[in-house]
Amino acid sequence: MKSILVTGGTGYIGSHTVLQLLDANFEVIILDNFSNSSDESLKRVEKLTGKQAKLYEGDIRDSDLLNTIFTSHKIDGVIHFAGLKAVGESVEKPLMYYENNVYGTLNLCKAMAEHGVKNIVFSSSATVYGDPVVLPLNENLPTGTPTNPYGQSKLMVELMLKDLYKADSEWNIVLLRYFNPAGAHPSGLIGEDPNGIPNNLMPFITQVATGKREFLSVFGDDYDTPDGTGVRDYIHVDDLANGHLKALNKLSDKAGLVTYNLGTGQGYSVLEMVTNFEKASGQKVPYKITPRRSGDVAACYADPKLAAEELGWTANKGLKEMCEDSWRWQSTNPNGYK
Ligand code: NAD
Ligand code: WQD
Repeated sequence: MKSILVTGGTGYIGSHTVLQLLDANFEVIILDNFSNSSDESLKRVEKLTGKQAKLYEGDIRDSDLLNTIFTSHKIDGVIHFAGLKAVGESVEKPLMYYENNVYGTLNLCKAMAEHGVKNIVFSSSATVYGDPVVLPLNENLPTGTPTNPYGQSKLMVELMLKDLYKADSEWNIVLLRYFNPAGAHPSGLIGEDPNGIPNNLMPFITQVATGKREFLSVFGDDYDTPDGTGVRDYIHVDDLANGHLKALNKLSDKAGLVTYNLGTGQGYSVLEMVTNFEKASGQKVPYKITPRRSGDVAACYADPKLAAEELGWTANKGLKEMCEDSWRWQSTNPNGYK
């Protein structure tokens, strides 16, 4: 693997992955429609690495553009981040989510097949497990029923890729099921830049800490967890990004179709997140307990053993680094990339 097409490469996880790919001397081609990002993240990645990626502004649903990209570059593999990810929005606009995430991936795979590029790493999500029946979650457990169209779209793509592999075993497919990404590059130059009111916990906490939001709503304190608040497996975005480089090695080994959790194996509650963030940042995070958010599960964390055994990947950074790095990014870029 030398030359990698990264769809969604200017987004949150994509930008951190592109940085590591450039550092490791891959040739990187990015396709992004900037629906949730801009080229500013790439400018900063290029500054940090001293290397350049080729950027195409456009959509994975655009077959002509895909054709141009695959004709213009000898691509060895694709890391496919592009997609929409806001759970609430997906409930309001399901067709938009199925079109972007499912049809978009289908269109990408068609172009890949036409050009004989049959290596792909796909951004899946722990959401495909549905409401966990046992914890920690391992990859052999059956998938469940995601509670929203976003989650369904991830499960549909997993199923589609499995069928694709069954029909043509020349494909090498790594499904990476991310748990809860958090943190930012330690430089403070790149990080998560959500549009409007953040849906996810960590960006909400950092915006409360800067004073941009008055308080954090803690969605429910009556779950069956040690302190009653929701428990999740937060993973540093740099560790997550590194998982993709390991997945590329797996593609080179002719993996077939394989599925890995990318998580730490350790769950933290919402209140533990608040306390740890306060400690790492020195800022107060006022909060109020509010009713549960619909569709939330009590607890969700990974069994990360398989990725350790088969990819040689483990998460190295802990909650302290996630909190410190998120704070450095948010406090030095209060308006994100704008
Ligand atoms: P992000 O929104 O920051 O990045 C996605 C990128 O894809 C953005 O730059 C966006 O502009 C681009 N994009 C969206 N639709 C596109 C299209 N049709 N054509 C071209 N580009 C398009 O999100 P992220 O957090 O970096 O997530 C990356 C991937 O990982 C997504 O597929 C997401 O569903 C998945 N994922 C994210 C999380 C999370 O909590 N962040 C968890 C599990 C899985
Ligand atoms: C974490 C915990 C909330 C915000 C979602 C998607 C999942 C994946 C990651 C993409 C929960 C609580 C949150 C707030 C809170 N995305 N919370 N107040 O729900 O585990 O996962 O993002 O694939 O598919 O569902 O992450 O960060 O939204 O919530 O109390 O303002 O924080 O209830 O317990 P979640 P999250």
